[in-house]
Amino acid sequence: MLSLRHISLLQFKNYPDRSFDFSERVIGICGKNGVGKTNLLDAIHYLCFTKSYFTRLDGNNVQHGASGFRLHGDFILHDRPEKAVCILRETGKKEFSINEEPYDKFSHHIGRYPCVVIAPDDAELITGDSRERRTFLDALLCQLDPEYMQHLIIYKKVLDQRNSLLKSFAETGTKNLALLDVLDEQLIKPGDHIFHQRSSFLVSFLPVVKRLYNDISQRDENVHLYYESELLQSSFSDLLTLNRTKDCFAQRTTSGIHRDDLDIQLGNQPFKNIASQGQRKSLLFALKLAEMEVLKKEKGFAPLLLLDDVFEKLDEDRIGNLLHKVCAENDGQVFITDTNEERLRGHLDKLSVSYQLLIL
Ligand SMILES: Nc1ncnc2c1ncn2[C@@H]1O[C@H](COP(=O)(O)OP(=O)(O)O)[C@@H](O)[C@H]1O
Ligand SMILES: [Mg+2]
Repeated sequence: MLSLRHISLLQFKNYPDRSFDFSERVIGICGKNGVGKTNLLDAIHYLCFTKSYFTRLDGNNVQHGASGFRLHGDFILHDRPEKAVCILRETGKKEFSINEEPYDKFSHHIGRYPCVVIAPDDAELITGDSRERRTFLDALLCQLDPEYMQHLIIYKKVLDQRNSLLKSFAETGTKNLALLDVLDEQLIKPGDHIFHQRSSFLVSFLPVVKRLYNDISQRDENVHLYYESELLQSSFSDLLTLNRTKDCFAQRTTSGIHRDDLDIQLGNQPFKNIASQGQRKSLLFALKLAEMEVLKKEKGFAPLLLLDDVFEKLDEDRIGNLLHKVCAENDGQVFITDTNEERLRGHLDKLSVSYQLLIL
């Protein structure tokens, strides 16, 4: 069992110096636009992933005018207290420790506090380009297997080197094919590993998404999800050889797991082209709730769940249905933000679970 009991934020976004105690499993966070609800959830995300959910640049999270930030969370993991501290120094150096023990590799931390976020911009997961879906999948697999993340880091590094080399071929007019061979070798190992992890994981994951989707929309819709990867047809090594001329011409690597996608169909059409807003929301929730189920099954305890403004444009029934799933049927800690205190209170009262309401 995992829970967060306390968090302190120092010079983090709009918080100069602020602490919060969390005494319940279900926590509602209310307040007007711009008071810092999302920022508080992001601070929790930081302590789980050592980074923001919203921005890649750590510096963007430092309070304007300040030169660094500090986050401190008191967690309970398997009945034992753990103090997680994340510091961004003014030099830009980031430090992360558990019970005063610093990590030398942050990737070792990922998955210790599993966490699922649902935020308004996550609709991009359905409507955006393939990168969004790969990011979702990678965040999930990294929490399940630290080795996956290592392979991903190496893959990205070698891919950048390979692309730079292809560019230099075009610029200099000479081709160092021996070096390209070496980089291909280096790319194949992590690429194959990632492909196998993704494909074996999706075999069991995608049916869960489909089941949850039908559950949420409360009827049996013809939704199908498929893993899309060129590596399903040919080995990565063959693809690199086959596409070498094309890669040299394009000055980038045109095949590999960095081009994978999830193909989502409704009937026989691409989901994003024909699904209504309600259907898209249902699919988003299905993906995230499936993530929650899988993490719970693999870890043996429920992940933290961060729901940011998810009620906008949802009808009352769907809000009730969703809250029941995440607060009553689930036994993990849940943080829910809403601008409308009355609405949130009304829904939480109906669930007969004890909850805490923070008004920012
Ligand atoms: N680095 C930062 N320094 C200071 N304020 C920030 C920083 N980043 C965001 N903010 C402020 O945080 C506020 C938004 O907080 P947010 O958590 O998104 O609000 P809410 O979710 O309650 O609507 C905005 O007023 C924004 O200007
Ligand atoms: Mg917000």
